[in-house]
Amino acid sequence: MTKILVTGGLGFIGSHICVSLLEKNYNVIVIDSLINSDEDNLLSIKKICKFSNNFSNHITFFKGDIKDKELLINIFESSIEDNNPIDAVIHLAGLKSVKESVEQPLEYWETNVFGTMILLEAMKKYNCKKIVFSSSATIYKPIIDELITENSALGPISPYGSTKLAVENMLGDLIKSKPNEWRITNLRYFNPVGAHISGLLGENPKGRPNNLFPILLKVASGEYEKLSIFGNDWPTHDGTCIRDYIHVMDLAEAHISALDLILKSSPFFLNLNIGTGKGKSVLEVVETFKKVNRCEFKYAFNSRREGDSPYVVADNRLALSKLDWKPKRNIDDMCRDAWNWKFKSKK
Ligand code: WQD
Repeated sequence: MTKILVTGGLGFIGSHICVSLLEKNYNVIVIDSLINSDEDNLLSIKKICKFSNNFSNHITFFKGDIKDKELLINIFESSIEDNNPIDAVIHLAGLKSVKESVEQPLEYWETNVFGTMILLEAMKKYNCKKIVFSSSATIYKPIIDELITENSALGPISPYGSTKLAVENMLGDLIKSKPNEWRITNLRYFNPVGAHISGLLGENPKGRPNNLFPILLKVASGEYEKLSIFGNDWPTHDGTCIRDYIHVMDLAEAHISALDLILKSSPFFLNLNIGTGKGKSVLEVVETFKKVNRCEFKYAFNSRREGDSPYVVADNRLALSKLDWKPKRNIDDMCRDAWNWKFKSKK
């Protein structure tokens, strides 16, 4: 069985990717420090896969940090001893709060960039030279009213985005040094939201959330009194910011298609925007959430949030052409599945 190492595999996006991998009969190894995830997700992954196939036990979890060189060596060595070496890596482990990165830039550079360097050195040592990297739309320079292509101007405005771009540059230097060895795909996420349809997995960041959907769930469930909408004076049709929200399962399936591509292709380096190509404003998300889930809650317009831009929507045509993939779920599904998870998980 093809064996895949998923770093950060128990996180919000990583756990959904593990479900998709197991359902495609991959053998999965997870390393996760649990800094922003919960080991309960491992049980949920197994429970979901038990329903759909009997490969739920083809997942092994190592608690730890990708900066731990000894642990990485142990993981790669043990796979070789089992005569089933790691064929490729899906690399998600990293810190991902834009706000926190402004307050603690060195932690972000150490974990996201130095940690990736340690991982790549281990991969090189064990001749594992296929990687799908979890990159981000935050590496782009903010633009207004235009879809973002992979060739749009780069210009991160947060340390988080700068670390994602730094890793892409590191990967670029690596493949330039060994063009006939590495197969690298950078998936530039737009706004991943929603939850697995079973309600057993979802987005549950530790501490106070910063992103819209986790906050929306807390407002709709009554944990928070109201939603603050950051600005209604933006240059958009209703004055609120527009984003390209993509269902986390569509994002997970994009990783499987990208993995299939690197496993069967000759060496290459590819950047892909993973979004739906459609934008929704904050107000449109709020109204859809209320309609789909037949719930009511309060919101108030506040001042703009530092670092926000009015319009971040993907031109996803390259991903549609390169991958055997297209987003299948819409904003109604995202709102419904997120709410279903919130109710079932009581988190
Ligand atoms: C979405 C919109 C806010 C909270 C995030 C991640 C980033 C990247 C992309 C992966 C914005 C508005 C939010 C609230 C609000 N992900 N909002 N009230 O900023 O687009 O970026 O996704 O790399 O890491 O930070 O997403 O969910 O924070 O905000 O009005 O209480 O919702 O202004 O317009 P964002 P978000």
